[in-house]
Amino acid sequence: MNKPTGSNADATPASVATGNGPRHVAIIMDGNGRWAQQRGRPRLFGHHAGAKRVREIVEACPSLGVEYLTIFAFSTENWKRTQSEVAGLMSLFRRYITSQARDLKKNGVRVRFIGDRVRLEKSLIKMMDDLEEMTRDNTRVHLTVALNYGGRDEVARATKRMARDVAAGKLDAETVDEQTLTRYLDTRLLPDPDLVIRTSGEARISNFLLWQSAYAEYEFIETLWPDFSPEVFAGIVQNYAGRDRRYGGVKNA
Ligand code: FPP
Repeated sequence: MNKPTGSNADATPASVATGNGPRHVAIIMDGNGRWAQQRGRPRLFGHHAGAKRVREIVEACPSLGVEYLTIFAFSTENWKRTQSEVAGLMSLFRRYITSQARDLKKNGVRVRFIGDRVRLEKSLIKMMDDLEEMTRDNTRVHLTVALNYGGRDEVARATKRMARDVAAGKLDAETVDEQTLTRYLDTRLLPDPDLVIRTSGEARISNFLLWQSAYAEYEFIETLWPDFSPEVFAGIVQNYAGRDRRYGGVKNA
């Protein structure tokens, strides 16, 4: 894996040295359209620039002590965009998988996809399955791509599966608690995110990891996603390390 360039990213950050850094970072990659617009180019130009950033940010994770990275690539609401933008994004996901698969495997990245696959094209689902299978023994970075993902949709699908198991006698309704629901979510194999970042100046969470982010720290930054460099990422990770997370309790004396 290439080392990220830039002074912040080259030095071992204090957060890594102290172990106070985020183990799981989730990112809402926003601002591709505006970035392209500012350059007088079509929106897809911004999405392509955004895809290049994904690679750099994944590569920066080990040196920042980030073990899990979850990125919001396409939401259940993004189907409302023009047909040509949706088609362009789907084709970008295919190209990304085809062009990055070998390096992801070689660089120790385990890839998972979350979201509802039902609406995706069969050939894309096959590529996603193959990439998951190909990288299943990797442990250096856990990259989760949220594709046709919505937090409410995920909880609804989990609840449906749980109800079916109750009806089939596989689950006792009286024993259902928070842990039970967690085991039915798409993210069942992931720790909860410690830090959620949203780029492009919008301060909302847009249905991303609603259940899982109950105690996450949030960072809303002005930078548009295609400008989100490893240096900006390193700065946010450092900032997180200085925060005081209490999970509803009080600070230790
Ligand atoms: C939001 O920006 C971005 C998206 C809906 C797509 C995110 C996709 C990528 C970064 C492409 C690559 C991803 C992978 C996994 C290869 P926006 O279009 O809403 O921007 P705007 O708010 O400025 O219009």
